[in-house]
Amino acid sequence: MLAATKVPYLYGLTKLGQVFGTDKVDAAHTRNGLAYTDIYERYLRPWRRQRFTLLELGVYRGNSLRMWNSFFPRATVVGLDLEPLAAERAAEFEVTVGSQSDPEVLASVVRKHPDLRLVVDDASHITSLTIASFRHLFPQLPRGGMYIIEDLAPNTYEDWPGHDAERGTNWPAIQQNPEESRFNVRQDMDDFLRELIRDCDLGGGPFGEGPGAKEVAFVHVWPSIVVVGRA
Ligand SMILES: C[S@@+](CC[C@H](N)C(=O)[O-])C[C@H]1O[C@@H](n2cnc3c(N)ncnc32)[C@H](O)[C@@H]1O
Repeated sequence: MLAATKVPYLYGLTKLGQVFGTDKVDAAHTRNGLAYTDIYERYLRPWRRQRFTLLELGVYRGNSLRMWNSFFPRATVVGLDLEPLAAERAAEFEVTVGSQSDPEVLASVVRKHPDLRLVVDDASHITSLTIASFRHLFPQLPRGGMYIIEDLAPNTYEDWPGHDAERGTNWPAIQQNPEESRFNVRQDMDDFLRELIRDCDLGGGPFGEGPGAKEVAFVHVWPSIVVVGRA
């Protein structure tokens, strides 16, 4: 593996996102003056000096992995992407090549990183795949862990500018995941979010460990992002 670039420790997450060039800081990912990274920093600043594993689903060129790695100098930052090229472009990190919905691939990452505490899903943004990853990974997180799902809009609104009536969305991942595109169903995302809220409130939902057991500590919905806390 190559050595990862380090930049000044005092930089905040948005500054680091700009330095490394992730789209999490651009205008398309900013609402009401807050980039995704401004929102994440509110949750994650207290973890900055801690040791844990962060898994990002969706690596592309590795720029967000570089941002996370600089923000969390003691954390282990790993990625997963469908495209082998992503692993090459982010050669300084451990990047597993496979689908975000493949239980064996996800299980192998969890086995290797039992201290997994934070998952960021910036992969396909296809509802069925987003939910599959969550169902597998969220229960593996420890109490206090967090799971972030990005770019909800393409899955959620018929009037999102990229919406395509036939395929649900013109998101590029539709080409990468042709089998799954027909499962990019808005109602499924609505039902999923409702299940999370129910589990958070009453427990015993689909992620429950039994009657009354709660796995979801909170469900925070931000523009196009949901941050879910592990109870
Ligand atoms: C938006 S890009 C990730 C950008 C990166 N996180 C950043 O901020 O710089 C989405 C990535 O998800 C990957 N992807 C698409 N479908 C996937 C799937 N089913 N499983 C895993 N990765 C997938 C694509 O190959 C692409 O590299």
